[in-house]
Amino acid sequence: MAKNKKNDKMDRLVSLCKRRGYIFQSSEIYGGLNSCWDYGPLGAELKRNIKTSWWEAMTARRDDIEGLDAAILMHPAVWKTSGHIDEFTDPLVDCKTCQARFRAEDLAENKNPEQCPACGNKTLTEARQFNLMFKTFMGPVADDNAAVYLRPETAQGIYVNFLNVKNASRQKIPFGIAQIGKAFRNEITPGNFIFRTREFEQMEMQYFIHPSEDEKWFEYWKEQRWNWYMELGINKDKLRWHEHGPDDLAHYAKAAYDIEYEFPFGWKELEGVHNRTDFDLSRHQEATGKDMGYIDERFKEKFVPYIIETSAGCDRTLLTVLVDAYVEDDSRGDKSTVLKLSPKVAPIKAAVFPLVKKDGMPEIAEKLYHDLKKRFKVFYDAGGSVGRRYARMDEAGTPFCITIDGQTKEDDTVTIRDRDSMEQTRYKLAEVADFLAEKVE
Ligand code: GAP
Repeated sequence: MAKNKKNDKMDRLVSLCKRRGYIFQSSEIYGGLNSCWDYGPLGAELKRNIKTSWWEAMTARRDDIEGLDAAILMHPAVWKTSGHIDEFTDPLVDCKTCQARFRAEDLAENKNPEQCPACGNKTLTEARQFNLMFKTFMGPVADDNAAVYLRPETAQGIYVNFLNVKNASRQKIPFGIAQIGKAFRNEITPGNFIFRTREFEQMEMQYFIHPSEDEKWFEYWKEQRWNWYMELGINKDKLRWHEHGPDDLAHYAKAAYDIEYEFPFGWKELEGVHNRTDFDLSRHQEATGKDMGYIDERFKEKFVPYIIETSAGCDRTLLTVLVDAYVEDDSRGDKSTVLKLSPKVAPIKAAVFPLVKKDGMPEIAEKLYHDLKKRFKVFYDAGGSVGRRYARMDEAGTPFCITIDGQTKEDDTVTIRDRDSMEQTRYKLAEVADFLAEKVE
């Protein structure tokens, strides 16, 4: 029962996302493409705001991290060196009766792991390794010599550019390289809306350090990354750390912690913080013969840098932000839904309403709207009762509604309604932009 209720919440969130223009099924008019999603007008703004917040925290506001935007297609030898061609696999099990496919790990969690969860027959095959990389061909001839891969992580673009960025930026260790970009994995069981998809966006940062300082920087980056979710306004009681034990630690990692969020479908990984040691640069050095060694003035020695990686999913963060903000509040009227998004990431920062469409109110409201639009993403709405307009904005997650009413013409004041407290306070027209700036920037 409790489980169904939780799933209902996800269903209602998915339908809100479609209704308000956050997220649509990809190619919907053709019946949709499984696990692929399109971000609509509000979703595109929210995603952009999340990426901007990450970029500012991870590079723009710092002196020690440089940005990068590497190509999705890379030399296929990169994926041989990184281990992805040989090892980036999931054990896959087929059902011989109904042809359904499962991850062996998911089946192992079931009460009857030999039984097909789809048709109930005990006709599952042995597990076989399934490579998650998307393969395509470069140029007109589709043969193995032309094979290239859609990157399954953005990190390798950073490793192969380590020397370029170091030389061009003249950064000294410790320093980092940050990148946001698409990654692709042919997941066996995508699902839970945008949680696990085959095309997704990562926000990754690789921090290059002296090996003797790995524990210090690992702790530092754990703290920084946790604080970023706090900045996004995520409820800290719904976040926790999960340490990878010896069994689930990747072969290249010395230590790994995930930040997990309690979604309606359980505690799930949002981001990983990994101590990747010198594995990546050493492997690329070995494969290319390029010297990845770094001479450190402080340590007076040459070494291959260790890497502390922070690897977050943009779509997962966006889902977290939406799930965390979603509130059903009957006190506001029948079936009222509010998205209590942090004003810093909310797609629309404020809506401007004339109380009625007469007595000069629309003219003042339109002027305010055009003035604010130069600095903020704002929305003008004169349609329907003011209560209906508030409800639409609550559901869209807009933190403030500014109403021009009869008093505005008398004393140049407007009401600003706070989405969460529903309190209305009068401000001078001339103060509105400063009020918004303080709340949303
Ligand atoms: N470079 C390290 C790396 O890629 P990962 O744990 O495989 O590590 C990092 O992925 C993050 O990327 C995850 O924590 C998650 O947020 C996101 N991610 C991975 N696979 C995903 C998928 N199929 N759909 C959506 N996000 C995904």
